[in-house]
Amino acid sequence: MLDYKALKQDFPLLSSLDIVYLDNAATTHKPRRVIDAVKRFYEEINANIARGLYELSVKATKLYEEAHELVATLIGARSWTEVVFTRSSTDSANIVAWTMVVNGIVRENDNIVVSIGEHHSNMLPWKMVSELTGAELRFVPVDERGFVDMNRLEELVDDRTKVVAVNIVSNVTGRVNDVRRIARLAHRYGAYVVVDGAQAVPHMKVDVGSLEVDFLFFSGHKMMGPTGTGVLWMREDLARELAPPIRGGGAIRSVRVEGSSLKVDYADPPWKWEPGTPHIAGAVGLSEAVRYLLEIGLDRIAKHEEELTRYLLSRLQELGEVVEGVVGGWDTERRLGIVAFTVKGMAPHAVALALGLRNIAVRAGFHCAEPLHRFLGFNEGSVRASFYLYNGLEDVDSLIEALSGLVKRRGES
Ligand SMILES: Cc1ncc(COP(=O)(O)O)c(C=O)c1O
Repeated sequence: MLDYKALKQDFPLLSSLDIVYLDNAATTHKPRRVIDAVKRFYEEINANIARGLYELSVKATKLYEEAHELVATLIGARSWTEVVFTRSSTDSANIVAWTMVVNGIVRENDNIVVSIGEHHSNMLPWKMVSELTGAELRFVPVDERGFVDMNRLEELVDDRTKVVAVNIVSNVTGRVNDVRRIARLAHRYGAYVVVDGAQAVPHMKVDVGSLEVDFLFFSGHKMMGPTGTGVLWMREDLARELAPPIRGGGAIRSVRVEGSSLKVDYADPPWKWEPGTPHIAGAVGLSEAVRYLLEIGLDRIAKHEEELTRYLLSRLQELGEVVEGVVGGWDTERRLGIVAFTVKGMAPHAVALALGLRNIAVRAGFHCAEPLHRFLGFNEGSVRASFYLYNGLEDVDSLIEALSGLVKRRGES
């Protein structure tokens, strides 16, 4: 296990508050060095990028580019120019979706294949594309453990499939999909593979080269970076050749009025994908978070979370009848630090509220994955506990103790 007690000391809020924080899939806490990096940026630099020739602007530009480089290193990108900064995973997914429309990639009579296990953020943008283009939206089911059903995927993908959208790790079951296998299948038919890495990149080693995908997105704030930061990685040739859907200053090399038309030459990637003033301080904070992650090591973080998950599932099992079900089942195969469950006779929100009163932070509801919950028969949603590197066995013990107390009290009343 990681030395999580020592790591926790790096997080000012966590180390000062008496809280068991198990809502990391929603957002993670920020270490002091990230907070300090953001603060330092505003106190010592605070200039816009790329447009100034004075020292502060040069410094800001350098830091901003460096942030792209660090993220590229984190995900094994070939070049930092493949890394586009966005506001969030949701923002990134929408940019990819609009890109498909703007470039005429998805058209009427085409289809888009989306896993039913997706977060709404990797589902709703595809509905929009379907509505705008007339393309068919096809849903690939998951098996009872939450893995994408590969047999059904084989049946659904055909030579009119333009996009296959899946996650690496589900934000409900914590299951790790075999994305490379999915990508190889999709590529046989010439489809683009769009991958949601929001619950993967912060928790395990993700290498875009070996995944063989075309687009990957994730959130900076779920990996200890500031809120309002997200990433969209895309293959270098796509970043260069495709037209960006969001346009404006900073993204162009030249704009000329010729007669009644506007001639535009886009800047090189990633700038052409990042019009307007970006979240520079956010990027600076994110790069500090990436440095921290690289120092600790993603493989060690994944192992740590796997151990906590195993421990939580075994302790939930000890509670016997209390737990009604675990979304995606009880086994730990290819599963990272997310466990969503239901408690017999208690609505998920009632459980989360009661736990909250005991300073245990979990999440209740559908976790923005309502189709998945309904598909697996969890029509009232679930209670979700999700780990990160600063969580330990004691956190699981506190949760279990509170859950058993809850149920005992209910039995007595
Ligand atoms: C798997 C997954 N995809 C997408 C998102 C959306 O992330 P954001 O809120 O940063 O846009 C989340 C966040 O809950 C998620 O867990």
